[in-house]
Amino acid sequence: MKKVISTFIEEKLTKVLEKLNYPLKPKVIISNRKDLCDYQFDGAFSLAKELHENPFNISEKITAEFQKMYANTSFFTKIEAVRPGFINFTLSDTCINEILNHMKESDKFAITMPAKETIIIDYGGPNIAKPLHVGHLRSAIVGESIKRILKYYGHEVISDVHLGDYGLQIGQVIYGLKSENISINDITIEILDRIYPKMSGLCKENDEIKTICAQITKDLQDGNQEYQAYFVKIREVSGRDILRIYDYLDVHFDLWYGESNAYPYIDKAKQALEAKKLLKQSEGALIIDVAKSEDSKELPPFIFQKSNGAYLYGTTDLATIFERIIDYNPQKILYVTDLRQGMHFTQLFRVCEKLGITKSTNFEHLGFGTVNGLDGKPYKTRAGTAPKLDELFTETKEAFLNSNPKNTSMDNEDLDILVNAIIKFADLQNNREKDYIFDSKKFSSVIGKTGPYILYTYLRIANILTKENYISTNKLTNTIYNNVDRELRMKILELENALNYSYTTRLPSILANYLYELCVNLNAFYENNHINNLEDVKKKEDWLILLDLSCKIIKDMLYLLGINIPKKM
Ligand code: ARG
Repeated sequence: MKKVISTFIEEKLTKVLEKLNYPLKPKVIISNRKDLCDYQFDGAFSLAKELHENPFNISEKITAEFQKMYANTSFFTKIEAVRPGFINFTLSDTCINEILNHMKESDKFAITMPAKETIIIDYGGPNIAKPLHVGHLRSAIVGESIKRILKYYGHEVISDVHLGDYGLQIGQVIYGLKSENISINDITIEILDRIYPKMSGLCKENDEIKTICAQITKDLQDGNQEYQAYFVKIREVSGRDILRIYDYLDVHFDLWYGESNAYPYIDKAKQALEAKKLLKQSEGALIIDVAKSEDSKELPPFIFQKSNGAYLYGTTDLATIFERIIDYNPQKILYVTDLRQGMHFTQLFRVCEKLGITKSTNFEHLGFGTVNGLDGKPYKTRAGTAPKLDELFTETKEAFLNSNPKNTSMDNEDLDILVNAIIKFADLQNNREKDYIFDSKKFSSVIGKTGPYILYTYLRIANILTKENYISTNKLTNTIYNNVDRELRMKILELENALNYSYTTRLPSILANYLYELCVNLNAFYENNHINNLEDVKKKEDWLILLDLSCKIIKDMLYLLGINIPKKM
């Protein structure tokens, strides 16, 4: 057998339903009553509604036909219609072990690969001259994980950090530097970290300065040489610091483009818009209507150019799409940003639709929620500002060191791996669209749904395999020895479902939660089944094979979540 087990049952069910003339494409799910069965089919309920028949009668008919058509398969030990209309499937040991052996021997655990596509993923999105803070964390973590999952499925994936490098903050910082007589060569990250908050505060109080800063930004965009020289240096200094943080997070980009790189493509975008007569004058600005009659909420027009001639966030995003299509002609472009940018992306994608771009390129906005503090409000430092990422790393490291005196003996490299694991697993276990509370103490513990728990489990099992000098050559036999053993095997069978689901929904949380459940099963298995002194050679071999397969799965899943493995804990 070379298939996900649910697909395998679905294929058989399709034939059964056809034979019975039932109009339904069957969907089989992992049982939510594992004490009763392994997989279940609930389609009788919708059929019952449609055909005005009793659901239990339908499930009985399907079951009877299934048994008739597949009477001699050795895959199920039980197929049963249960009131009020469920159909329950229980797999045979032979079936379970056959799939496990196939997973063990195949590349990437035998998942089915989709047709290869070129996909651009735009995440990170930091703004230069501003320090990275907690608000930038999720885009980096979630984006990196989605990128790795897409690559795992064989796609050609190009990642772009898409720096915010041509916005108002640049004009503000240039003004601040000039007014303090700081020359270009003297610019350092410390100076930038000081000037930006000062200027952004000043601009909030003083409209005159704000106008000057806006003008500097506009002149910079129009090519003013002095400002360009400042810009190049600011981008270099700030870019180096951003890179340092991403390196720490093991987050990597193929392209370090920014809004400024899109400027040469603005004309191309404008020509295309003009050719389709999409641009409209409105109070001096150039806009595009993107509302549709079926919209439930009013969607304002997309602004291409402001009345003072300035371009906006949307303009550079549109121009960037032209750039990306010319350079890579991708089938998909994905954006990982804060959910609150939802409307911006709806407008942008609508413009692409009107331009006919969406015929060959699909767009997805993958939004995420907020990182909150213990009070349930957006995470803040004692000073009331969003903590810089450096501060968050330090806080997490301290929490981990305090959680167990033994942790202080870990080397620095391993400690940094743990800090990453704590932060990333805390984040990725939550559906990206939900807010979550970051509690460094709770997530540092080796007990509970945490990064350290997963890593500890992995190292514990990997240790056993090393001690036993295990080399994987044999296949699993047909035996399953006890309940926890069977539960572990069934959890491994769920891998493909979890992977496929996280791939299609772009939700790394599915994988994170699967990984946690696998570790819970593994620990239960290990505590109940002592391997070291086993005399039954066949049993010992089977169990080592199982542990080895589990270790390989954990390793790959951790990689997909962007989490590295320490040498020891
Ligand atoms: N710099 C933007 C921000 O801080 C995020 C950029 C996201 N990417 C994009 N193509 N718009 O919100």
